[in-house]
Amino acid sequence: MTRAVSPVPPSPRGGERRGEGKHLTAFGPGKVILLGEHGVVYGHPALAAAISRGMRAWGVPSDSTSLEIPEGISAAHQEALERAFARAAKQARHPKISVHLESQLPLSMGLGSSGALAVAVSRVLLEAKSGAPAKTKDVEALALEMEKEFHGTPSGVDHTTSARGTMVLFKKGRATEVVAAKPVKVLVAMVGPRSSTKQTVGALRERQKRWPARYRRVFDQIGRLVGEGAAAARTGDLEALGDVMNMNHGLLSALGLSSPQIEDMVYRLRGLGALGAKLTGAGGDGGAVIGLFREPEPTVMKLRAQGVDCFASQLAGPRAL
Ligand code: MEV
Repeated sequence: MTRAVSPVPPSPRGGERRGEGKHLTAFGPGKVILLGEHGVVYGHPALAAAISRGMRAWGVPSDSTSLEIPEGISAAHQEALERAFARAAKQARHPKISVHLESQLPLSMGLGSSGALAVAVSRVLLEAKSGAPAKTKDVEALALEMEKEFHGTPSGVDHTTSARGTMVLFKKGRATEVVAAKPVKVLVAMVGPRSSTKQTVGALRERQKRWPARYRRVFDQIGRLVGEGAAAARTGDLEALGDVMNMNHGLLSALGLSSPQIEDMVYRLRGLGALGAKLTGAGGDGGAVIGLFREPEPTVMKLRAQGVDCFASQLAGPRAL
């Protein structure tokens, strides 16, 4: 595996056949968890959706299988990335391709950057080997192998949502698409660095091992909220969905997964008219907060002018032509 640093991906040439010896490209969208993070690790459901930003992988013909590590990632991330890529390359039977990455996603913010990367890389490796577009189930299986290197024991919600590219209700490795009657749009705001998902999930696991009955009650409640939220999304009842998100946030906070900066942003978004606001992903100390808005763009402009790093994404529902 090479370790050259090349932030600029090469342009694929048009008109070439696919497979080994051909230029390939694939996109893995990032994700937000609307409801049910952490509970999903214990077999409860989660409602998650792909966002417009993600990771792109480019495959260039080569003599061996290699990955060019992008600039600016930490040594720990680099090691995990190398291990994950080596595992995927072996499973894909070493297609002769050099893979380059381009991120349009804030990294390590709870927006599924590793799942998105795993999906984009898996698509390129599989397609390079077979010469045909990869099947979603094969992409999911290979991306899960990579995710295990990044997170240890992931629920699988991140890479599955990325591979499907829609809003999904996810439980125990199975995902079903949630078709929303109205557009579901969120504002995603970054609230600063956070510990790794592995660490936050591990610390919560220790607490729930110590006091299992109490923690199980909270996870059960979160699981029920996920079902109610999915029903609200299907019928287009955005006010109910927002209310469920607010309650879910309160329970995540009860589980010790919030922080002063997360709470500040949650209340700021609610003050700006969000129908619901909560942390998304692993939480802990920082990461990302989402707010459900009928039209998030004006609030994105306002917050950006105040120095907040944020963007809007439509998660589901009919889209304007
Ligand atoms: C991370 O995006 C979501 C968590 O539930 C972890 C997982 O599902 O593996 C915190």
